[in-house]
Amino acid sequence: MMNFLNISDLSIQDLNGILEQAKMMKNARVGLPKGAYDEGQPLSQHIVALVFEKPSTRTRTSFDVGVRQLGGQPILLSGAEMQLGQGETISDTARVLSRYVDLIMLRTFECQTLYEMAKYSTVPVINGLTNESHPCQIMADIMTFEEKRGSIQGKKVVWFGDGNNVFNSFFQAAEKFGFSLVFSGPKELEPAKDLCRQAKKLDIDFKIDRDPISAITDADLVATDTWLSMHDNPEAKKIKYNQLKPFQINEELMSRANEEALFMHCLPAHRDEEATSDVMDGKNSVIFDEAENRLHVQKAIMRWCLSK
Ligand code: CP
Ligand code: NVA
Repeated sequence: MMNFLNISDLSIQDLNGILEQAKMMKNARVGLPKGAYDEGQPLSQHIVALVFEKPSTRTRTSFDVGVRQLGGQPILLSGAEMQLGQGETISDTARVLSRYVDLIMLRTFECQTLYEMAKYSTVPVINGLTNESHPCQIMADIMTFEEKRGSIQGKKVVWFGDGNNVFNSFFQAAEKFGFSLVFSGPKELEPAKDLCRQAKKLDIDFKIDRDPISAITDADLVATDTWLSMHDNPEAKKIKYNQLKPFQINEELMSRANEEALFMHCLPAHRDEEATSDVMDGKNSVIFDEAENRLHVQKAIMRWCLSK
């Protein structure tokens, strides 16, 4: 039994195996209606709990559809409607859910909650986003990049804006997949004080570059995210927006990247804030491919968790 909690927990062989399987399953579905079963129904007789303590469109729908396509049965649970929202502990919740289901996907706030769920669960647990990370998203992003441009190894990925949960998972992926990563955002919103030291220790080709134009030069992949995340205090909005404005991705900035550079955003976006609509809908944007690939890659992640 294997959990999928962080990209840094997996070997590159396992990560590539997941991407390969996702690609195969995606190709095998061409032309099929969304509700058709995948051949062999690999999750047949399996029940998957999808627990959400935060809102979601993509994660919620793609996991639900993915479980069904694999022949399994999803149960969507909202944290607020569970006893979890009334103070039942996560450790008790984990032990109870493990008696009913074969796999748990959790979207929550603190990463400690996810780790606690994984510690007490006797079935695999998948990270569907915490305040600290979003590994399913980055697996879908790497799948998307490699579909369009081949191996991401050695490529230059530039992240603009907030050093948030999605960025953290890019950072972990940079170590595993061997791409170079540049963070271009305000000092106040750097994800960790000792990021450069961490990168050095892990042998990640990582740089902070606060000049957006020099940061984006030679970029193969340009990514950003909303300026206010679900876990942020809305009162911080004004301060954060002022800090982040210089890091907006617009056509002028995007034109400085490689001509073939892809634009990514995990969505949901606040159009014309972190990125302008002309970039989001432009020829280099792959935002909806990323969203689609959430489905394929998460199906492969679920199979990987249950295969070990
Ligand atoms: N990208 C992503 O995880 O979207 P949702 O919040 O809609 O699930
Ligand atoms: N950083 C965003 C990602 C949403 C998918 C958030 O945590 O709200």
